[in-house]
Amino acid sequence: MLGLNFSSRKNGNCGDFLLFLRQQTNNRLVIRSIHDFSLEGCGPCEYECIHGSCPKKDGLTALTAWMDKEEQSIFVMPLYNGNLPSAFYRLLERMSPRLHDEAEEKRFWKKVKIILVGNPEHGLEPAVQTLKDIYENAGVKPAVTAFSSVKYGMKATQDRMIESREVRSRLVELAWEWMENPGR
Ligand SMILES: Cc1cc2nc3c(=O)[nH]c(=O)nc-3n(C[C@H](O)[C@H](O)[C@H](O)COP(=O)(O)O)c2cc1C
Repeated sequence: MLGLNFSSRKNGNCGDFLLFLRQQTNNRLVIRSIHDFSLEGCGPCEYECIHGSCPKKDGLTALTAWMDKEEQSIFVMPLYNGNLPSAFYRLLERMSPRLHDEAEEKRFWKKVKIILVGNPEHGLEPAVQTLKDIYENAGVKPAVTAFSSVKYGMKATQDRMIESREVRSRLVELAWEWMENPGR
């Protein structure tokens, strides 16, 4: 199982959640940061991917090879400035030739579960909707869980949400769910 951290920092709330999930899955979760993969967005190019292959030589091949060999991937991501992190969009953009194939798109999203860290009225609602649309367009039941610091009386950038018992309980439930039913 792959746990991919989309935060700019490795040791914040997303990192805490992944470490906790690793414990709960008996170390079945391998944790990496998306920033370990030097992933560029698309361009400049001549759309070579449509007829051949992408001319960029960066971390995408290693990342997708790894995701392909794992039974499932847990993406843990924060909201930044009301949006999903740009690293997530870079990944989607670069994977678009592959995800154009409907069967492949479905297969990919069935394996992905997402945890989103963000607050209501600070971009959470549209971000959750965007993620749900991505799953639904692929014909896959959405697997998105949001954690909001305000719900626990915390400040997102300063406090550790993992200190909340309620957060830990929800993560325990998710870990069980994923281990019992990896492909949904
Ligand atoms: C530059 C910046 C912008 C942020 N923008 C938002 C935002 O628009 N909405 C929101 O709910 N949280 C926002 N946050 C809070 C982060 O989502 C939150 O701190 C989260 O815990 C970051 O993940 P990390 O702790 O793993 O680094 C922002 C944080 C930073 C540093």
